[in-house]
Amino acid sequence: MDLGIRGRVALIGASGRGLGLATAQRLAEEGCDIAICDLEADVLDTALESVKLANSGVRAFAYQVDLTKEDSIAQLVTDVQRDLGVVSILINNSGGPPPGTFDAATDEKWLYGYQLTFLSAVRLIRAVLPDMKEQQWGRIINFTARSLKEPIPNLMISNAVRLAVGGMAKTLASEVASHGITVNNICPGPTTTDRAIELAGARAAKKGISVEEELAITASTIPIGRLAHPEEQAAAAAFLASELAGYITGISLLVDGGAVKAL
Ligand SMILES: NC(=O)c1ccc[n+]([C@@H]2O[C@H](COP(=O)([O-])OP(=O)(O)OC[C@H]3O[C@@H](n4cnc5c(N)ncnc54)[C@H](OP(=O)(O)O)[C@@H]3O)[C@@H](O)[C@H]2O)c1
Repeated sequence: MDLGIRGRVALIGASGRGLGLATAQRLAEEGCDIAICDLEADVLDTALESVKLANSGVRAFAYQVDLTKEDSIAQLVTDVQRDLGVVSILINNSGGPPPGTFDAATDEKWLYGYQLTFLSAVRLIRAVLPDMKEQQWGRIINFTARSLKEPIPNLMISNAVRLAVGGMAKTLASEVASHGITVNNICPGPTTTDRAIELAGARAAKKGISVEEELAITASTIPIGRLAHPEEQAAAAAFLASELAGYITGISLLVDGGAVKAL
């Protein structure tokens, strides 16, 4: 299926690994020019190579960025526009806010989670929106979590700030729809990124079980019976970014194997 986005420029947040990198690779396969970025410069070389391997015919650049910092985000967008031109597809993605209960959530952690997860999305959207309006076409996709539908225990800050992203995105979707711009959220369930496996390993160590046993416990809560692959989240993002999805806006798409029970 041709997604109709060949030659579009896509900027993907926190794409040195995990869901961001899988999405960058998928959009490269679809013929998009790609801007990847991440906090640590050392993951970017390998990530950029893998994006070019996905499609050697596209232009691809990598940028170091701290998504919690306004000036770093402004520099990122300036550099991407200089190297690739108008950003047509923005994938908002970042690391997860610090885990823990309400009692563990200090003001410092709340502010960090707010900047990393919410303000980074606001700032990136603000930077690319004028060009999207000018060209009367744009796709904004926010990777959030299934907690947009059902809070996840021990993720107090994440549960709260992701709802802020959801509220912002739904409101923005109406504001920009007449410009040919769609705004949607993807709500991933547990997905086998390296980080998720590491976290499962830490939980397993505390319980005195193997990481395989811990992953099996998680899988047993998912009707499909396994965790998602990063490529499955990326496929959802690619479809929402496509020309074909032009009438879909303001949604929060669960990609969770049926884990969330709410209607
Ligand atoms: N995987 C899942 O099961 C799952 C499920 C639901 C939601 N999510 C959410 O989806 C997002 C991506 O998940 P993932 O599993 O792909 O995570 P990941 O593998 O840890 O990737 C996140 C990337 O973000 C980078 N990052 C962290 N802080 C940053 C900053 N200030 N500026 C720029 N980049 C930064 C990380 O760099 P460093 O490694 O250097 O910190 C890492 O490369 C997260 O918000 C996560 O909470 C994931």
